Amino acid sequence: MLLDEKVAVIHGGGGSIGAAAARVFAREGARLFLAGRSLPRLEAAASAARAQGAEVDVAVVDAMDQAAVDRHVDRVTDAAGRLDVALNAVGFDHVQGLAIGETSLADYLHPVTGYLQTNFVTAKAVSRPMIAQGSGVILTISTPGARLTGRGLIGNAAQSAGLEGFSRALAGELGPAGVRVVCVRPHAMADAVATSYTGEMFGRIADRSGIRFDEWMAGLAGGTMLGRLPTLDETAEYLAFAASDRAASMTGVISNLTAGALVD
Ligand SMILES: NC(=O)c1ccc[n+]([C@@H]2O[C@H](COP(=O)([O-])OP(=O)(O)OC[C@H]3O[C@@H](n4cnc5c(N)ncnc54)[C@H](OP(=O)(O)O)[C@@H]3O)[C@@H](O)[C@H]2O)c1
Repeated sequence: MLLDEKVAVIHGGGGSIGAAAARVFAREGARLFLAGRSLPRLEAAASAARAQGAEVDVAVVDAMDQAAVDRHVDRVTDAAGRLDVALNAVGFDHVQGLAIGETSLADYLHPVTGYLQTNFVTAKAVSRPMIAQGSGVILTISTPGARLTGRGLIGNAAQSAGLEGFSRALAGELGPAGVRVVCVRPHAMADAVATSYTGEMFGRIADRSGIRFDEWMAGLAGGTMLGRLPTLDETAEYLAFAASDRAASMTGVISNLTAGALVD
């Protein structure tokens, strides 16, 4: 199995990508620690992962709070003796689709500060034990906004480009200690909208554009080379591979999972 004997923590572990990754990491043999905001969503993700035979702990931890995340990481290493994989799958609704003249400074900064804060907080916490053990993989999640242009994307673009730069620089810093950093950049996933903040967010954009939600999603799919959007399972399977020793030479990379919407 890809992640046999690996200990993994997933922040945002009850979310759409977090839960999908938990299922796949569990199937691949990982011991899991799911941390997040809402206990019911964490419990649901944990039961699906346990059904794959994994040992799974859950904890309510605010992934914006350095002291709380540090304490949780200490509990993980006390319980499991090590920490091999850390995925930040935290997500939250924010403003997209408005022109700059209609966007408040607060709405612009909300995704920028929020996503950059949580990824700093969790990476700082997990890098401590990973540096000490001389190995580990930190996984971050960006969006196509890092490379897109056009109206309504400034906050998402600044957040995503910032996170990709953060991940690349951190890989350079932690590489000599044996710690890898991989950022994945999936396109919008149609099978996530029922559970993800993206359902509300894309819904507002479709409404403003005067088209139905399914038409708007179809427009996104139509802009890819494959003529479809990626799925949660595809993203989770790639995350498991990137976390595994089969990807041992991969670090500082931004993995393009956009189904061909963007070309490197
Ligand atoms: N979905 C997509 O199509 C897509 C595409 C590209 C990139 N991404 C990226 O993937 C990541 C996850 O997105 P998703 O679709 O899986 O989102 P999601 O389904 O809405 O899940 C996000 C999870 O993060 C949790 N969370 C939010 N704030 C938190 C905090 N302060 N502390 C701890 N947990 C917190 C949420 O908790 P609650 O359960 O309490 O809400 C939720 O469980 C985001 O970075 C997003 O930009 C998503």
